[in-house]
Amino acid sequence: MTDQGRLAGRVAVITGGAQGIGLAIARRFAEEGASVVLADLKIETATNAASDLQGAGLNAVALAVDIGWDESVKTLAGEVERRFGRCEILVNNAAIGMDTHIETMSMDDYHRVIRINQDGAVCMTMAFVPLLKKAARGRRVLNVASIQGLRGWPNQLAYATAKGAIVNFTRAASCDLAPHGITVNAIAPGFVDTPMSILPDGSHEYDSDWFRDIYVKYGRIPMRRFGHPVDMAGPAFFLCSDDSDYVTGQILSVDGGASATF
Ligand SMILES: NC(=O)c1ccc[n+]([C@@H]2O[C@H](COP(=O)([O-])OP(=O)(O)OC[C@H]3O[C@@H](n4cnc5c(N)ncnc54)[C@H](O)[C@@H]3O)[C@@H](O)[C@H]2O)c1
Repeated sequence: MTDQGRLAGRVAVITGGAQGIGLAIARRFAEEGASVVLADLKIETATNAASDLQGAGLNAVALAVDIGWDESVKTLAGEVERRFGRCEILVNNAAIGMDTHIETMSMDDYHRVIRINQDGAVCMTMAFVPLLKKAARGRRVLNVASIQGLRGWPNQLAYATAKGAIVNFTRAASCDLAPHGITVNAIAPGFVDTPMSILPDGSHEYDSDWFRDIYVKYGRIPMRRFGHPVDMAGPAFFLCSDDSDYVTGQILSVDGGASATF
């Protein structure tokens, strides 16, 4: 087991840690010595991911949670307290994707996206503040927003509304939690190749003509490639390490320069 590294001795809870961006962040934190909790609705996928990390000599455990349900979040917080007694780092990463247009969206779909993508991060943070306060040092909350929370985007009404709320939740919570030495920051990923980018028909969103047009033809992503989950891990690590002690309430776009062109 890793007992060295810049996060050694710290407990990091990552929602949506079973796959994609959450797993890449969890792996990096574990490689830096943290004990990581992969907290996910998909408990089987999370358990397999935790086994992989353990197989690499890292400290990882999978715990079930539905962040869209208060009781489930409270149960998770209770289990983390029972096992570890505190939590140094909370990463609010879990979310769902859903195409929604203002003229065709149902209020049920809208509420579902808001409940998970917006309320889920708020509920998790409220439940984990007592555990963060029990940590001796390095108290961090990291939210995973999106560049769609910074700009408008067609067919993403609910998702973009929720991510916009996450951006300002980050700022507001940072003010409330600064007196407790808890920093609250966010990364805003651009287009990242994860299971979320696979469309219902099985095709890959980023293989589509519209995407190729955006990032190659019109150069809207100056780095001219989509991101990979591992591209998110370094910025997440910075915002959860001691190097960012005096950084709070900030949103860091990690998007190959896309938001610089908007
Ligand atoms: N992939 C992208 O292009 C992209 C771009 C910008 C922002 N993001 C954000 O990054 C984060 C991670 O996305 P990803 O692309 O890795 O997605 P993903 O679908 O690969 O992973 C999301 C994880 O969250 C879990 N999850 C979903 N609902 C949950 C719930 N109610 N309770 C607990 N866990 C739940 C899923 O089981 C899954 O493991 C999300 O917040 C997403 O909005 C992704």
